[in-house]
Amino acid sequence: MAVLVTGGAGYIGSHTVAALLERGEEIVVVDNMQQGHPQAVLGGKLYEGDLRDEAFLNQVFEENEIDAVIHFAANSLVGESMQQPGKYYHNNVYGTLCLLEQMNKHGVRRIVFSSTAATYGEPEQVPIREEDRTLPTNAYGETKLAMEKMMRWFDVAHGIKFVSLRYFNAAGAHAGGRIGEDHRPETHLIPIVLQAALGQRPHISLFGDDYDTPDGSCVRDYIHVSDLADAHVLAVQRLRGGADSAVYNLGNGRGFSVKEVVELAREVTGCEIPVRVEARRAGDPAVLVAASERARSELGWQPARAGLREIIASAWAWHQARPHGYEDERV
Ligand code: UFG
Repeated sequence: MAVLVTGGAGYIGSHTVAALLERGEEIVVVDNMQQGHPQAVLGGKLYEGDLRDEAFLNQVFEENEIDAVIHFAANSLVGESMQQPGKYYHNNVYGTLCLLEQMNKHGVRRIVFSSTAATYGEPEQVPIREEDRTLPTNAYGETKLAMEKMMRWFDVAHGIKFVSLRYFNAAGAHAGGRIGEDHRPETHLIPIVLQAALGQRPHISLFGDDYDTPDGSCVRDYIHVSDLADAHVLAVQRLRGGADSAVYNLGNGRGFSVKEVVELAREVTGCEIPVRVEARRAGDPAVLVAASERARSELGWQPARAGLREIIASAWAWHQARPHGYEDERV
């Protein structure tokens, strides 16, 4: 039986494909290559196409014996979602509807879903627990919450069991050195800081230093992408074991401010990394830190690369080896 990975050519998807391959799983990847890189898919069968293309997706299910789906395929830029909410509803929400309809048609009853801390919005308390209020502050988070809710009703009606994994801030790169983070455009803090270290940017912009945090900059919970990948593998195993649907936070439970990230990156890279303080970015909560005890106890998940220095160092190895990301691919 194969695992279908939608969005498997993207950043977290490709690291999850690598983790599944390491465990000997048979894999089918579907990616429309809007953000994905074909070179990032280290194995399995790759289909280039869109979930919203009914004939295409039907063919993927017809041609393969799929027993579980891991669903990454989605747009994920907070800022863009505020400018173009329609794009997010169409690709994320309608795309998920198309996927669930096909799963139902073909009798596939397990789905692991790539969700986000953005479903919570401004937290009521920190660390954030899964049962806390979900009130997204941006259209991206709203669509991810809508996708979770849709899965709930497909479970009630059709018995499709889901595990929704709400990630905090993914960073780092695979130890093998062949895959890493390469977004176009890049908006995430750690790759931007490392691009500045490489001299590809004159400075980084620090979005707001007047938050109600110890040093005034925003605090986030950074988690290694390969630790996220491992959680997906465990979630598939849990569903195969007959577990009920569930939602899990994935984070290290420790927050770092933007200033602390920059300081650690200076230590890791030995580079200066100039910082320019700018206005706050719309929709940024001051502090996002996960309570991940449920994932630890129920999934048996244990982050193995939890230190921020280690996370930054692994991203730095990738950026140094591939300063232009997959454009530097020579194989
Ligand atoms: N930041 C800067 N300068 C930059 C980029 C980011 O100061 O050039 C700051 C942001 O303001 C934020 C922190 O660095 O305070 C982290 O920003 P990222 O863009 O790296 O990550 P976010 O916390 O905004 O977003 C991440 C995911 C989203 C998800 C969100 C909430 O990328 O998909 O967490 O879960 F929605």
